[in-house]
Amino acid sequence: MKHTDFAGWMAQHQCRFEEELRGLLPPPEIAPQRLHQAMRYAVLDGGKRVRPLLAFAAGELACADESRVNIAAATVELIHAYSLVHDDMPCMDDDVLRRGKPTCHVQYDEATALLVGDALQTLAFQLLAERRLCDDPMRQLEMIKLLAAASGSRGMAGGQAIDLESVGKQLSLPELELMHIHKTGALIRAAVLLGAQCGTVTDKQLARLDHFGKCVGLAFQVVDDVLDFEADTATLGKTAGKDADNNKPTYVTLLGVSAAREMAQNLHEEAIATLVEFGDAARRLRELADFIVLRKF
Ligand code: IPE
Ligand code: IPE
Ligand code: MG
Ligand code: MG
Ligand code: MG
Repeated sequence: MKHTDFAGWMAQHQCRFEEELRGLLPPPEIAPQRLHQAMRYAVLDGGKRVRPLLAFAAGELACADESRVNIAAATVELIHAYSLVHDDMPCMDDDVLRRGKPTCHVQYDEATALLVGDALQTLAFQLLAERRLCDDPMRQLEMIKLLAAASGSRGMAGGQAIDLESVGKQLSLPELELMHIHKTGALIRAAVLLGAQCGTVTDKQLARLDHFGKCVGLAFQVVDDVLDFEADTATLGKTAGKDADNNKPTYVTLLGVSAAREMAQNLHEEAIATLVEFGDAARRLRELADFIVLRKF
């Protein structure tokens, strides 16, 4: 990659990664066609691809082979896309718009949306088990465990359970943080760590990257809460004001917008401080941390 500016780096990776995903997803003409078409609908042509970009940035830092990072990035994005399909279903947030398009259960039907989630999740683990991501097979097993933990009841799915239990409640700051760290932070953290583990990093470096991932993962959801309150539907590509409509406790309801923004800013500073010793190798991770906090959608 020749790009030196962040926008060019991001656009080039997004474009290349889109093609990668197209090739990894089951072809739409293969049976069961409707399920395969719905899987492609949920994953392709949309989304910022923040998690894959974090994996690419961490992979570059760790001098990883890009074709390996592609697979690691895809596994996280597939889990993320599945989580969005289920998050939007009537039994959860009941949303009709996602990535500027009708949500999966609206475009297809609820049963198909449920199966899309199931199938995307298992595709992620199939890829992680099938493709060679690092030379040490034991480390690759650790990577499979890492994604499973980040996705399951002690990770994203658990965070979603806390989210649903919390409707109509006023949470304390630590409770809200716990929910956000799980429902959103866990996968973001996994994206950084999986990208790095496709290359060469020491345990100490991995621990630093883990802390970076934790900070930007929480910051990401704090900003998501702020944007749900402040931004409009056309810009977001999903229904604005949904948290208030659904009576969700968020950083905005707990702290107000300006304190929530300040918190995202503090997390950003902590994330950047964690990268100091990597020097210029962490440049893209730094830029992604900026993007996560400053984004408008
Ligand atoms: C939305 O994630 C759901 C959250 C975890 C906050 P993104 O804002 O990354 O959604 P896409 O992938 O860009 O659509
Ligand atoms: C979603 O949180 C987190 C996951 C999908 C795991 P939100 O419910 O806030 O996400 P959006 O705002 O619908 O994208
Ligand atoms: Mg939700
Ligand atoms: Mg939602
Ligand atoms: Mg939200």
